Amino acid sequence: MNSVPALRVERRLAQRYREHLEAQGVWQPRYRVQRCSDGMVALPLVPNCLPELDLRTLQLTVSPGSPISLVYIQTPTLSKRERVMSENDKLVKTLRELLVSRGERWSEELREDIPHSWQRHGDLVLVGEGCFSRLVWESMGTELWQAVAHGLGCSRLAQIGRVSSDEFRTPVVTMLLGEDSIVTHVDNRIRYEFDVTKCMFSSGNITEKLRIASFDCTGETVVDLYAGIGYFTLPYLVHAGAAHVHACEWSPHALSALKRNLELNGVSERCTVHEGDSRRLPLCDLADRVNLGLIPSSREGWPVACRLLKQNTGGVLHLHQNVSSSGPPAGPTPFAPLTGRPGGEPGAGAGSAPPQGTGDTQRDVWKGWAEDTAAVVARLLSDISGRPWRTSVQHIEHVKSYAPHIHHLVLDLECRPL
Ligand SMILES: C[S@@+](CC[C@H](N)C(=O)[O-])C[C@H]1O[C@@H](n2cnc3c(N)ncnc32)[C@H](O)[C@@H]1O
Repeated sequence: MNSVPALRVERRLAQRYREHLEAQGVWQPRYRVQRCSDGMVALPLVPNCLPELDLRTLQLTVSPGSPISLVYIQTPTLSKRERVMSENDKLVKTLRELLVSRGERWSEELREDIPHSWQRHGDLVLVGEGCFSRLVWESMGTELWQAVAHGLGCSRLAQIGRVSSDEFRTPVVTMLLGEDSIVTHVDNRIRYEFDVTKCMFSSGNITEKLRIASFDCTGETVVDLYAGIGYFTLPYLVHAGAAHVHACEWSPHALSALKRNLELNGVSERCTVHEGDSRRLPLCDLADRVNLGLIPSSREGWPVACRLLKQNTGGVLHLHQNVSSSGPPAGPTPFAPLTGRPGGEPGAGAGSAPPQGTGDTQRDVWKGWAEDTAAVVARLLSDISGRPWRTSVQHIEHVKSYAPHIHHLVLDLECRPL
């Protein structure tokens, strides 16, 4: 593969530079952003843009004084979208040949009925709902699933419906090929084992898992109020070096996977699993950090999180929320905007790149949400402890686009008693 030109920038400014490159039409979406060994990142560029690229103006517009330079990425990696597109082409070819060999006619409607995205867990591929809905597939039985598995390079296949809206967020998953539904997923050297028909695994949260893995939690006590199968509990223990994690979970299936995963990764001794409703957790005054990884909103967990923080020194809350770009937050929990906003200038980070066109207005909505949340939490803390607290917005992380105009964000909120 040929090398591609790229703009080398500081990681913290990558999203802002990317937006400007996109606006100028010189951003190259075919390839992944590459991390450099010195903490900088290389943003791929369209090759023929170089003569017109004015680095000085770009730097002055985005962040005067920040170091930028042109480099070449020698072995560029295709972006996830490009990889999936080429796998999709392969799948279309395989199924087209199968249909023709059975005397059926190929049509563009059938192409639309073939999955365009999927999740891979080891040798099992999970395709989404709304594909293979045409009548022609029905008569083909196992032959079809074998061909799909061949096209996708896996040995087991399953299909996911919507994550149910029950309190456990149970996925509705049917096995299409193979009977064993237990999978092993390895992310960042952590092994997650779970039953795809009983537990959900949100692949879109990988950036948040990596961010947690990069924290230094040495000596800290962490509480994970919504542990699931250990998505965040494990990075806190394996990579961030937390002294102890209290992991709360109420789904029996997730609980058994969580315990198994703690064993598999050799960290059970530093974790206490609490079974049941985390809102009723009978603990207080012990946490340096509380993780509230629940969407569309973790609002119900705020009071218990405030009680859990160390009352003399405070700590950090990581609050997840789906936020609608039009202003009011998405999700069932009403959110009352307040005035009198505490906190300084938050840095809006970009775990996964926000969609094209993420501009200042959207960033202002996110900041508004963060500052309102900070005010509500400060009040909760003061009510609970009977003394004033200061809350400050440390960081806003964009985890993923959840739906059109709805973004899954995480607010890192520092809370200190006064
Ligand atoms: C969506 S998963 C979160 C996993 C991870 N944060 C992620 O985003 O991939 C939410 C988990 O919290 C659990 N949960 C939700 N409300 C809970 C509560 N009040 N008490 C204990 N567990 C709860 C659910 O059973 C589920 O396993």
